[in-house]
Amino acid sequence: MVQNIAPLMVDLEPEDFHLLSGVEQGMRFSEWVSKGKLPEFSRLTAEDVDYRLDRCEDRGLIERKTIQYQGFKLTFEGYDALALHSLIERETIEEFGAPLGVGKESDVYEVRSYKPFALKYHREGYTNFREVMKERDYTADRDHVSWQYTARKAAEREYDALESLYPDVSVPRPVDQNRHAIVMERVEGTELGRTKLEPEQVVPILDLILAELRTAYEAGYVHADMSEYNVFVTREGVTVFDWPQAVPTDHENADEFLARDVENLVSYFQRKYPNQVPEFDTDDVATAIVDGTFESVAPDA
Ligand SMILES: Nc1ncnc2c1ncn2[C@@H]1O[C@H](COP(=O)(O)OP(=O)(O)O)[C@@H](O)[C@H]1O
Ligand SMILES: [Mg+2]
Repeated sequence: MVQNIAPLMVDLEPEDFHLLSGVEQGMRFSEWVSKGKLPEFSRLTAEDVDYRLDRCEDRGLIERKTIQYQGFKLTFEGYDALALHSLIERETIEEFGAPLGVGKESDVYEVRSYKPFALKYHREGYTNFREVMKERDYTADRDHVSWQYTARKAAEREYDALESLYPDVSVPRPVDQNRHAIVMERVEGTELGRTKLEPEQVVPILDLILAELRTAYEAGYVHADMSEYNVFVTREGVTVFDWPQAVPTDHENADEFLARDVENLVSYFQRKYPNQVPEFDTDDVATAIVDGTFESVAPDA
Protein backbone atom coordinates (compact mmCIF):
# COMPACT_ATOMS: atom_id res chain seq x y z
CA MET A 1 0.00 0.00 0.00
CA VAL A 2 1.19 3.49 -0.78
CA GLN A 3 1.34 5.75 2.27
CA ASN A 4 -0.57 9.02 2.41
CA ILE A 5 2.17 11.62 2.05
CA ALA A 6 0.01 14.64 2.95
CA PRO A 7 1.16 14.71 6.62
CA LEU A 8 4.80 14.84 5.42
CA MET A 9 4.32 17.89 3.26
CA VAL A 10 4.82 20.52 6.00
CA ASP A 11 8.20 18.97 6.79
CA LEU A 12 9.59 19.13 3.30
CA GLU A 13 11.77 22.00 2.16
CA PRO A 14 11.99 23.52 -1.32
CA GLU A 15 15.39 21.84 -1.87
CA ASP A 16 13.86 18.44 -1.09
CA PHE A 17 11.55 18.98 -4.04
CA HIS A 18 14.53 20.00 -6.20
CA LEU A 19 16.12 16.70 -5.33
CA LEU A 20 12.96 14.68 -6.00
CA SER A 21 12.46 16.41 -9.29
CA GLY A 22 16.12 15.73 -10.14
CA VAL A 23 15.57 12.02 -9.51
CA GLU A 24 12.40 12.21 -11.61
CA GLN A 25 14.33 13.74 -14.51
CA GLY A 26 17.06 11.12 -14.27
CA MET A 27 14.46 8.35 -14.38
CA ARG A 28 13.58 9.40 -17.92
CA PHE A 29 16.90 7.90 -18.96
CA SER A 30 17.39 4.99 -16.59
CA GLU A 31 15.56 3.10 -13.95
CA TRP A 32 18.15 3.91 -11.28
CA VAL A 33 19.68 7.37 -11.31
CA SER A 34 23.31 7.43 -10.29
CA LYS A 35 24.25 9.79 -7.53
CA GLY A 36 26.87 11.54 -9.64
CA LYS A 37 24.21 12.87 -12.00
CA LEU A 38 22.04 14.36 -9.29
CA PRO A 39 23.79 17.72 -8.71
CA GLU A 40 23.16 18.55 -12.36
CA PHE A 41 19.57 17.26 -12.49
CA SER A 42 18.55 18.86 -9.23
CA ARG A 43 20.74 21.98 -9.35
CA LEU A 44 22.03 21.36 -5.85
CA THR A 45 25.63 21.07 -4.60
CA ALA A 46 26.99 17.53 -4.16
CA GLU A 47 26.95 18.11 -0.43
CA ASP A 48 23.32 19.20 -0.43
CA VAL A 49 22.43 16.23 -2.63
CA ASP A 50 23.84 13.89 0.05
CA TYR A 51 21.89 15.62 2.76
CA ARG A 52 18.63 15.66 0.77
CA LEU A 53 18.99 12.04 -0.32
CA ASP A 54 19.11 10.97 3.33
CA ARG A 55 16.11 13.10 4.23
CA CYS A 56 14.04 11.82 1.32
CA GLU A 57 15.08 8.21 1.86
CA ASP A 58 14.16 8.43 5.58
CA ARG A 59 10.72 9.61 4.56
CA GLY A 60 10.22 6.81 2.05
CA LEU A 61 10.20 9.15 -0.95
CA ILE A 62 13.12 7.52 -2.75
CA GLU A 63 14.75 4.11 -2.83
CA ARG A 64 18.49 3.45 -2.87
CA LYS A 65 20.44 0.56 -4.31
CA THR A 66 24.10 0.14 -3.70
CA ILE A 67 25.06 -2.74 -5.98
CA GLN A 68 27.77 -1.66 -8.48
CA TYR A 69 27.02 2.02 -8.00
CA GLN A 70 24.74 4.12 -5.80
CA GLY A 71 21.48 4.50 -7.64
CA PHE A 72 18.22 6.14 -6.68
CA LYS A 73 14.65 6.09 -7.85
CA LEU A 74 11.40 7.64 -6.74
CA THR A 75 8.91 5.58 -4.81
CA PHE A 76 5.23 6.12 -5.51
CA GLU A 77 5.23 8.25 -2.34
CA GLY A 78 7.95 10.44 -3.85
CA TYR A 79 5.99 10.79 -7.05
CA ASP A 80 2.85 11.65 -5.03
CA ALA A 81 4.85 14.35 -3.18
CA LEU A 82 5.92 15.93 -6.48
CA ALA A 83 2.37 15.96 -7.84
CA LEU A 84 0.90 17.28 -4.63
CA HIS A 85 3.57 19.98 -4.41
CA SER A 86 2.74 21.22 -7.92
CA LEU A 87 -0.98 21.25 -7.19
CA ILE A 88 -0.37 23.25 -4.02
CA GLU A 89 1.96 25.69 -5.82
CA ARG A 90 -0.73 26.49 -8.33
CA GLU A 91 -3.28 26.83 -5.56
CA THR A 92 -5.53 24.03 -6.75
CA ILE A 93 -5.25 22.46 -3.30
CA GLU A 94 -5.12 24.21 0.06
CA GLU A 95 -6.01 21.51 2.58
CA PHE A 96 -5.83 17.73 2.78
CA GLY A 97 -8.60 15.54 4.06
CA ALA A 98 -9.49 11.94 4.69
CA PRO A 99 -9.28 9.01 2.27
CA LEU A 100 -12.39 8.76 0.09
CA GLY A 101 -11.67 5.40 -1.42
CA VAL A 102 -9.06 2.91 -2.40
CA GLY A 103 -9.83 1.58 -5.85
CA LYS A 104 -8.34 -1.21 -7.88
CA GLU A 105 -5.84 1.15 -9.41
CA SER A 106 -5.95 4.35 -7.43
CA ASP A 107 -5.94 6.07 -4.07
CA VAL A 108 -8.49 8.85 -3.68
CA TYR A 109 -8.42 11.54 -0.97
CA GLU A 110 -10.59 14.45 -0.10
CA VAL A 111 -8.81 17.80 -0.51
CA ARG A 112 -10.09 21.36 -0.32
CA SER A 113 -9.60 24.77 -1.75
CA TYR A 114 -12.68 26.97 -1.93
CA LYS A 115 -14.75 23.77 -1.89
CA PRO A 116 -14.21 20.02 -1.38
CA PHE A 117 -12.48 18.19 -4.21
CA ALA A 118 -11.33 14.64 -4.75
CA LEU A 119 -7.64 13.98 -5.48
CA LYS A 120 -7.07 10.72 -7.34
CA TYR A 121 -3.56 9.30 -7.59
CA HIS A 122 -3.38 6.77 -10.38
CA ARG A 123 -1.54 3.56 -9.53
CA GLU A 124 -1.66 1.71 -12.82
CA GLY A 125 1.45 -0.36 -13.23
CA TYR A 126 2.00 -0.60 -9.49
CA THR A 127 0.24 -3.81 -8.49
CA ASN A 128 2.40 -6.13 -10.57
CA PHE A 129 5.27 -3.68 -10.46
CA ARG A 130 7.45 -5.58 -7.98
CA GLU A 131 7.08 -8.81 -9.92
CA VAL A 132 7.98 -7.11 -13.15
CA MET A 133 10.93 -5.32 -11.62
CA LYS A 134 12.42 -8.56 -10.28
CA GLU A 135 12.71 -9.84 -13.80
CA ARG A 136 13.82 -6.55 -15.19
CA ASP A 137 16.85 -6.24 -12.96
CA TYR A 138 18.61 -8.34 -15.56
CA THR A 139 17.43 -6.57 -18.67
CA ALA A 140 18.61 -3.40 -20.29
CA ASP A 141 17.33 -0.18 -18.79
CA ARG A 142 15.83 1.09 -21.99
CA ASP A 143 13.41 -1.84 -22.04
CA HIS A 144 11.67 -0.72 -18.93
CA VAL A 145 8.36 1.05 -19.05
CA SER A 146 8.15 2.80 -15.75
CA TRP A 147 5.11 2.76 -13.53
CA GLN A 148 5.30 6.54 -13.53
CA TYR A 149 4.75 6.58 -17.24
CA THR A 150 1.84 4.12 -17.09
CA ALA A 151 0.16 5.95 -14.21
CA ARG A 152 0.68 9.41 -15.73
CA LYS A 153 -0.79 8.29 -19.06
CA ALA A 154 -3.84 6.90 -17.29
CA ALA A 155 -4.35 10.20 -15.42
CA GLU A 156 -4.05 12.14 -18.67
CA ARG A 157 -6.54 9.87 -20.41
CA GLU A 158 -9.02 10.17 -17.56
CA TYR A 159 -8.65 13.94 -17.40
CA ASP A 160 -9.14 14.29 -21.16
CA ALA A 161 -12.27 12.15 -21.02
CA LEU A 162 -13.71 14.18 -18.13
CA GLU A 163 -12.98 17.43 -19.93
CA SER A 164 -14.72 16.23 -23.08
CA LEU A 165 -17.72 14.81 -21.25
CA TYR A 166 -18.39 17.46 -18.61
CA PRO A 167 -21.06 18.88 -18.32
CA ASP A 168 -23.13 17.04 -20.94
CA VAL A 169 -22.58 13.74 -19.19
CA SER A 170 -22.96 13.53 -15.43
CA VAL A 171 -19.28 13.03 -14.49
CA PRO A 172 -17.23 14.70 -11.74
CA ARG A 173 -16.18 18.18 -12.88
CA PRO A 174 -12.46 18.07 -13.76
CA VAL A 175 -10.40 20.70 -11.94
CA ASP A 176 -6.68 20.04 -12.53
CA GLN A 177 -4.16 17.37 -13.42
CA ASN A 178 -0.47 16.92 -12.64
CA ARG A 179 1.68 13.86 -13.34
CA HIS A 180 -0.36 10.81 -12.21
CA ALA A 181 -2.85 12.86 -10.17
CA ILE A 182 -6.16 14.41 -11.06
CA VAL A 183 -8.29 16.78 -9.03
CA MET A 184 -12.01 16.75 -9.60
CA GLU A 185 -15.19 17.78 -7.92
CA ARG A 186 -16.00 15.67 -4.87
CA VAL A 187 -19.21 13.79 -5.54
CA GLU A 188 -21.64 13.46 -2.63
CA GLY A 189 -23.32 10.13 -3.01
CA THR A 190 -23.09 6.41 -2.49
CA GLU A 191 -21.70 3.88 -4.91
CA LEU A 192 -24.50 2.04 -6.65
CA GLY A 193 -23.12 -1.27 -5.34
CA ARG A 194 -23.52 -0.06 -1.76
CA THR A 195 -27.02 1.39 -2.22
CA LYS A 196 -30.32 -0.35 -1.63
CA LEU A 197 -32.74 1.21 -4.09
CA GLU A 198 -36.44 1.38 -3.35
CA PRO A 199 -38.46 -0.84 -5.74
CA GLU A 200 -39.89 2.17 -7.61
CA GLN A 201 -36.38 3.64 -8.10
CA VAL A 202 -34.85 0.61 -9.78
CA VAL A 203 -35.90 1.09 -13.41
CA PRO A 204 -35.59 4.91 -13.34
CA ILE A 205 -32.01 4.68 -11.99
CA LEU A 206 -31.03 2.01 -14.51
CA ASP A 207 -32.52 4.20 -17.27
CA LEU A 208 -30.61 7.25 -16.01
CA ILE A 209 -27.27 5.42 -16.09
CA LEU A 210 -27.93 4.01 -19.56
CA ALA A 211 -28.93 7.51 -20.72
CA GLU A 212 -25.55 8.79 -19.48
CA LEU A 213 -23.85 6.08 -21.54
CA ARG A 214 -25.89 7.26 -24.54
CA THR A 215 -24.83 10.89 -24.05
CA ALA A 216 -21.21 9.80 -23.55
CA TYR A 217 -21.41 7.84 -26.80
CA GLU A 218 -22.76 10.91 -28.59
CA ALA A 219 -19.83 12.87 -27.15
CA GLY A 220 -17.45 10.25 -28.56
CA TYR A 221 -16.65 7.95 -25.62
CA VAL A 222 -17.38 4.46 -24.33
CA HIS A 223 -16.63 4.01 -20.61
CA ALA A 224 -15.33 0.43 -20.99
CA ASP A 225 -15.14 -0.33 -17.24
CA MET A 226 -18.78 -0.05 -16.28
CA SER A 227 -19.82 -1.65 -13.01
CA GLU A 228 -21.82 -0.91 -9.86
CA TYR A 229 -18.56 0.41 -8.34
CA ASN A 230 -18.13 3.22 -10.85
CA VAL A 231 -21.52 4.90 -10.48
CA PHE A 232 -22.58 7.17 -7.63
CA VAL A 233 -26.23 7.52 -6.76
CA THR A 234 -26.68 11.13 -5.62
CA ARG A 235 -29.61 13.24 -4.54
CA GLU A 236 -29.82 14.70 -8.06
CA GLY A 237 -29.51 11.40 -9.91
CA VAL A 238 -26.40 9.49 -10.93
CA THR A 239 -22.74 10.32 -11.61
CA VAL A 240 -20.56 8.04 -13.67
CA PHE A 241 -16.86 8.16 -12.70
CA ASP A 242 -13.54 6.28 -13.21
CA TRP A 243 -12.84 6.98 -16.91
CA PRO A 244 -9.11 6.24 -17.54
CA GLN A 245 -9.81 3.25 -19.78
CA ALA A 246 -12.51 5.00 -21.85
CA VAL A 247 -12.18 4.39 -25.59
CA PRO A 248 -13.20 6.73 -28.38
CA THR A 249 -16.26 5.61 -30.33
CA ASP A 250 -14.20 5.33 -33.51
CA HIS A 251 -12.06 2.63 -31.88
CA GLU A 252 -12.59 -0.64 -33.73
CA ASN A 253 -13.85 -2.43 -30.60
CA ALA A 254 -15.87 0.48 -29.20
CA ASP A 255 -19.26 -1.12 -29.80
CA GLU A 256 -18.11 -4.38 -28.21
CA PHE A 257 -16.97 -2.46 -25.13
CA LEU A 258 -20.30 -0.68 -25.02
CA ALA A 259 -22.21 -3.96 -25.24
CA ARG A 260 -20.09 -5.31 -22.38
CA ASP A 261 -20.72 -2.17 -20.28
CA VAL A 262 -24.49 -2.54 -20.78
CA GLU A 263 -24.32 -6.25 -20.00
CA ASN A 264 -22.32 -5.66 -16.76
CA LEU A 265 -24.71 -3.02 -15.55
CA VAL A 266 -27.89 -4.85 -16.46
CA SER A 267 -26.74 -8.14 -14.98
CA TYR A 268 -25.97 -6.34 -11.72
CA PHE A 269 -29.52 -4.95 -11.64
CA GLN A 270 -30.99 -8.34 -12.52
CA ARG A 271 -29.07 -10.06 -9.72
CA LYS A 272 -29.82 -7.46 -7.08
CA TYR A 273 -33.40 -6.54 -8.06
CA PRO A 274 -34.79 -9.62 -9.87
CA ASN A 275 -38.42 -8.59 -9.32
CA GLN A 276 -38.09 -5.01 -10.57
CA VAL A 277 -36.14 -5.41 -13.79
CA PRO A 278 -38.35 -6.19 -16.81
CA GLU A 279 -37.39 -8.65 -19.55
CA PHE A 280 -35.52 -7.01 -22.41
CA ASP A 281 -32.68 -7.72 -24.81
CA THR A 282 -29.41 -6.05 -23.73
CA ASP A 283 -28.16 -6.05 -27.32
CA ASP A 284 -31.17 -3.96 -28.34
CA VAL A 285 -30.34 -1.50 -25.57
CA ALA A 286 -26.71 -1.26 -26.72
CA THR A 287 -27.88 -0.69 -30.29
CA ALA A 288 -30.28 2.03 -29.16
CA ILE A 289 -27.42 3.74 -27.32
CA VAL A 290 -25.28 3.66 -30.47
CA ASP A 291 -28.19 5.03 -32.51
CA GLY A 292 -28.86 7.71 -29.89
CA THR A 293 -32.47 6.57 -29.48
CA PHE A 294 -32.29 4.91 -26.07
CA GLU A 295 -35.01 6.08 -23.64
CA SER A 296 -35.93 3.27 -21.25
CA VAL A 297 -35.64 -0.46 -20.64
CA ALA A 298 -39.34 -0.57 -19.69
CA PRO A 299 -41.25 -2.25 -22.55
CA ASP A 300 -44.14 0.24 -22.60
CA ALA A 301 -42.02 3.40 -22.31
N1 LIG B 1 -15.01 12.48 -7.46
C1 LIG B 1 -15.11 11.67 -6.40
N2 LIG B 1 -15.79 12.06 -5.29
C2 LIG B 1 -15.89 11.24 -4.21
N3 LIG B 1 -15.34 10.00 -4.15
C3 LIG B 1 -14.65 9.56 -5.22
C4 LIG B 1 -14.50 10.36 -6.39
N4 LIG B 1 -13.79 9.65 -7.30
C5 LIG B 1 -13.50 8.47 -6.72
N5 LIG B 1 -14.02 8.38 -5.46
C6 LIG B 1 -13.91 7.21 -4.54
O1 LIG B 1 -12.68 6.52 -4.76
C7 LIG B 1 -12.89 5.18 -5.21
C8 LIG B 1 -11.91 4.80 -6.31
O2 LIG B 1 -12.07 5.67 -7.42
P1 LIG B 1 -12.16 5.17 -8.93
O3 LIG B 1 -12.18 6.38 -9.79
O4 LIG B 1 -13.28 4.20 -9.08
O5 LIG B 1 -10.77 4.43 -9.11
P2 LIG B 1 -10.35 2.91 -9.49
O6 LIG B 1 -9.96 2.96 -10.92
O7 LIG B 1 -9.20 2.63 -8.64
O8 LIG B 1 -11.55 2.02 -9.25
C9 LIG B 1 -14.33 5.17 -5.67
O9 LIG B 1 -14.90 3.90 -5.53
C10 LIG B 1 -15.01 6.21 -4.80
O10 LIG B 1 -15.42 5.66 -3.59
MG1 LIG C 1 -13.48 2.30 -9.80
